[in-house]
Amino acid sequence: MPPRPRLRIGLIGLGAISRFYLAALERAPSLHLAAVCDRDPDALSPLRGRVPCYLDHRELLAEGGLDAVVVCAPNHMHAPLCRDVLAAGLPVCVEKPLATLPADGAALQAEARLRKITLFTAFHRRYNRPVRALVDRLPAGVPVTAVRVRYLERIEEHIGRDSWYLDPGRCGGGCVADNGPNAFDLVRVLLGPVSVSGASIARDAAGVDRRALVRLHSPGGAAAAVELDWSYAGERHGRLGASGRRPHRLRRHARRLPRVQGIAVARVRGRAGGLRAAGARRRGPGGRGRARRPRAGGRGLPGRARGAAGRGTGAAEPG
Ligand SMILES: NC(=O)c1ccc[n+]([C@@H]2O[C@H](COP(=O)([O-])OP(=O)(O)OC[C@H]3O[C@@H](n4cnc5c(N)ncnc54)[C@H](O)[C@@H]3O)[C@@H](O)[C@H]2O)c1
Repeated sequence: MPPRPRLRIGLIGLGAISRFYLAALERAPSLHLAAVCDRDPDALSPLRGRVPCYLDHRELLAEGGLDAVVVCAPNHMHAPLCRDVLAAGLPVCVEKPLATLPADGAALQAEARLRKITLFTAFHRRYNRPVRALVDRLPAGVPVTAVRVRYLERIEEHIGRDSWYLDPGRCGGGCVADNGPNAFDLVRVLLGPVSVSGASIARDAAGVDRRALVRLHSPGGAAAAVELDWSYAGERHGRLGASGRRPHRLRRHARRLPRVQGIAVARVRGRAGGLRAAGARRRGPGGRGRARRPRAGGRGLPGRARGAAGRGTGAAEPG
């Protein structure tokens, strides 16, 4: 049987996170980077001569020859870019959040359904090894009763040339819109569908969500707490161990460890200590930090641990 042709992928947005995709595409034998697009010519420079480059995504789409598109532009651009990709009849993998407004997200979903085209938000945390290990360790048939997910970092350490992260309009608000999706997705992995029971959010003078505690619950009564912090100072290399028994203690412990970035704890019925998926992680390919970033020109890979838990193992696992 002849080998299946490689899927031709177009990549829109060549900033920090794109380098994980570029590295993964290089390693995936079934995928081929067929075209890239960034409105900033400097971002295209390292790829010129290697792959067709476009400054406008509409030109990339009009040129054809693609089987799917990855969208890695800033949050506020996800909806319009995805809309155009779907309108071109192409499946799309978009970085989180799917959109900055719920109505835009719902419209994209409806459009994808109508066209029978895949629309995939890259909730990568659920695929990270520590998370998979935690899920594997959950005893079969014993429901998880409590989950805690943390995402602590100082966002100023991770902003590139464009400070859209600190513009609530372009980011979608702040830590809740930006780090929340992967954290909430982990809760969903462990508890299934959940609803929000309450949230407290602290904003700065510019209206950016800097800290948040979001509580969620499942229909079966399991509870989840998601802690998000964009003002977490003093990060340092380190690892955090934790159990689910004394969450208030864990929090204090986490505050003492300067480089805490994420932790997910699942408590299961009849099990005192709980289970954990990694904990503090080093800056590096696992997140949005500066260390150990594969560089493709411009600034390095995001090194903060996006979302909860998980130690990345190179460019394949962006936090
Ligand atoms: N999952 C994760 O761990 C993770 C980590 C970092 C970023 N992200 C997400 O990835 C996305 C990008 O974040 P980033 O940190 O790489 O941002 P960035 O600012 O480093 O890069 C964004 C790039 O998109 C380009 N761009 C902006 N508008 C464009 C347009 N209309 N068409 C084409 N290119 C355009 C910019 O020029 C820039 O090069 C965001 O949605 C962010 O939330 C996810």
